[in-house]
Amino acid sequence: MEILFATSNKHKFEEAKSFFGNARPALKLTHQPFDYSEIRSDNVEEIAKDAAAAAYKQFKKPLFVEDSGLFINSLNDFPGTFSAWTMKKIGNIGILRLMSDSTDRTAKFVSCIAYHDGKKISTFIGTCEGSIAIKISGVDGFGYDPIFIPQGEQKTFAQSIQLKNKLSHRYKVLLKFCEYLHD
Ligand code: IMP
Repeated sequence: MEILFATSNKHKFEEAKSFFGNARPALKLTHQPFDYSEIRSDNVEEIAKDAAAAAYKQFKKPLFVEDSGLFINSLNDFPGTFSAWTMKKIGNIGILRLMSDSTDRTAKFVSCIAYHDGKKISTFIGTCEGSIAIKISGVDGFGYDPIFIPQGEQKTFAQSIQLKNKLSHRYKVLLKFCEYLHD
């Protein structure tokens, strides 16, 4: 079975490739570069569904897309679905500045996969609770990994990619999607 992962983010593709390589080696996962202007919404599922419909219209093969975001409690869920834009504009340093007075550092990553099988779109959600570190640490991963510490741990995702690979929102959503593909 072949599925396209339509994304412009090579890090997301590499994480999915490594996941399926272990969990479902028979599945052929192909990177389909996909750049499109995503709709504005606070909801990752709404965005992912719209993106899956647009990607299927373009490539006409079974495919999935993934939309994710970081939701920080003390910032009223900012940057949320605007995480990619915020990363470009202010980066991790900007987020830490915005939170310099925050005692509540809790946050979560949320990821939604929308799979278009040619007939319908199915969605899957993965969440990873955690907190925003006081400073940037670690060099692995991408995006907010150097400032995100998963719940119950001491290290950021960027300090321990092993931790990320077993606890992250992407790992959880890929697990759900993989179980669905088995049925
Ligand atoms: P989008 O899903 O393409 O809208 O992008 C979401 C943005 O959130 C990415 O560009 C990253 O900045 C950030 N992000 C998503 N997933 C992760 C992750 O696993 N680690 C760190 N940052 C992430």
